[in-house]
Parts: sequence; C-alpha cells; structure tokens
Amino acid sequence: MLKDKVAVIYGAAGAVGGAVARAFASEGAKLFLTGRRLAPVAAVAEDIVSAGGSAEAAQVDALDEQAIDRYLQSVIAKAGRVDISFDAVGIPGTKLLGVPLVELDLEQFSLPITTYTTSYFLTARLAARRMVANESGVIMTVTTLQSRTGFPTAGGFGPAMAAREALTRELSAELAPHGIRVVGLRPQGIPGTDSLKEAFEPRAKASGMTLEQFEELGASRTHPRRLSTLADLANTAVFMASDKASGMTGTTVNLSMGTLDD
Ligand SMILES: NC(=O)c1ccc[n+]([C@@H]2O[C@H](COP(=O)([O-])OP(=O)(O)OC[C@H]3O[C@@H](n4cnc5c(N)ncnc54)[C@H](OP(=O)(O)O)[C@@H]3O)[C@@H](O)[C@H]2O)c1
Repeated sequence: MLKDKVAVIYGAAGAVGGAVARAFASEGAKLFLTGRRLAPVAAVAEDIVSAGGSAEAAQVDALDEQAIDRYLQSVIAKAGRVDISFDAVGIPGTKLLGVPLVELDLEQFSLPITTYTTSYFLTARLAARRMVANESGVIMTVTTLQSRTGFPTAGGFGPAMAAREALTRELSAELAPHGIRVVGLRPQGIPGTDSLKEAFEPRAKASGMTLEQFEELGASRTHPRRLSTLADLANTAVFMASDKASGMTGTTVNLSMGTLDD
C-alpha cells in the first residue's frame, strides 16, 4: 500500500513510532527514522532492514526547527521527495500526570501543550514546504482520548491533545488545496506501553485499583471490551498514509472503539 513512499517518522523509537515504522516498512515504504537519541532509533532501523525493509536512522530533536530542516534537506538529497511525515513524539508523563489541576505548577501544565504543539507544527510545516512542490503528501500525528473528554489529573495533556487535533484541521484547510492531506489517529490506551502505564497508574492508585484492574475498567467501556493494540493503530496508520485514503483529510480517526461518540 505504500510502495516506494518516502516516510519520515519523528519519535520512531517509541512504542507508537516503532510500530508505525514497522508497518509502513512492511507495506514497501522507504523509512527515515528519527529520535531524540540515536541508539534506540538505530535499533528499530536495523530490525526493519534485517526483515528486508528500507530504513535509516538519525538523531533529530523534533523541537529544533533548524535540525528538522537540515534533516529534511538530507532526505530530499537522498530520496528526492518526502511523501509522509508522522509525528509520534511523546514525553514522559511522570511529573505531568496524577496531580490535581489546583496543585499543578504552571510549568508542568504548559510543558505538554508546548511540546506536542511545537513538534507537530514544526515537523508539519517543514514537510509541507517540500510536499507543495510535488502537490502531494500526507502529514500525520497521534492523539489520545483526552482531546475530547475530561479525565481527572490529566494536567495539560488534554489541552495539548485538543490543540493537536485543531492543528490537524487548520493545516488541512490550508494544505489540502495543494494536494497534501493532514490526518490524526486517536487510539485508546495501549497496554504494555510506558505511556499507558504513566497515564493509568495514578488514576488506578487514586481508585484503590491495580493497573491491571484499571485496564479492565477501561476495556469494559469500549464496545469490544478491550483496549487498543499497536497493530490496531499501525494498520490504520498504513491505510491513512496510503492513496486509498484520498478522501480523508482535516480529521482525526476515532480509534476509541466506541468509548467516544463522533
Ligand atoms: N501508548 C499509548 O497507549 C498511546 C495511546 C494513545 C496515544 N498515544 C500517543 O502517542 C504518542 C507516542 O506515545 P508512545 O507510547 O509511543 O510514547 P513513547 O514510547 O514514550 O515514545 C515517545 C518517543 O518520542 C521520543 N521523543 C521525545 N521527545 C522528542 C523530541 N524532542 N524529538 C524527537 N523525539 C522525541 C522519545 O525519545 P526518548 O526516549 O529519547 O525521549 C520516544 O522515543 C504520544 O503523543 C502519546 O500521547 C499513546
């Protein structure tokens, strides 16, 4: 579905970024994987190459405009184009989550809002400047259910996710006339990932539950009575990145499996 598409992924060593990278590679994309640290992202690229895919790794801070710009120049020099830009960056929630808003420091409240909007804005804008020349491209990111519903002790995370979804709509409104689609993915929590543990553990503790019990509670609120898997997310990402999704732009795919109505 993605044969010879040139895809740049930011935060590619994370749970989401790594799963999306492997799924894109298995559909024939040429991957340029980036992360804040080189070693973890190089390990993902090595895995993909040893499975017969095409991937290379680089250290790129997704909050550094000049570093992203220089990196995209190098991708264009090697591959000639950028077809897909995927922002999968995530920051540790240990100090940001689990604190009531009335007690939360301004800095801890603002950090996710600034980080998640900045990485998406910079990576999208700099990719779009290259994609406009080809009148084609797909810009993607990932959000969480906090964008659309209130959870206790989620701090600035909800506003950050809502801002990302708003930016998806605004980018699309400006870029779709130039052949560039902009789409987000909003999965349920994904058991086994550090992000889910950080998000669920404080709320489990506050409710006197174990993490496993809290996961079961979350699962019981979905229609199929289960949380998301990385495969659910990555397979949808492949479709949304492909030309088959030509009618999808300015929207965030609701992968909450019934927890959130559209
Ligand atoms: N996992 C879930 O259950 C879930 C569900 C819904 C949505 N999401 C969303 O998906 C996104 C990724 O989550 P995840 O579970 O994959 O998180 P993760 O496993 O913690 O991965 C995040 C990745 O982002 C990298 N990163 C952080 N700051 C960066 C920067 N400035 N530049 C480049 N890379 C940077 C991290 O690198 P370092 O390790 O070097 O810092 C890490 O590899 C988040 O927005 C999260 O909210 C996750």
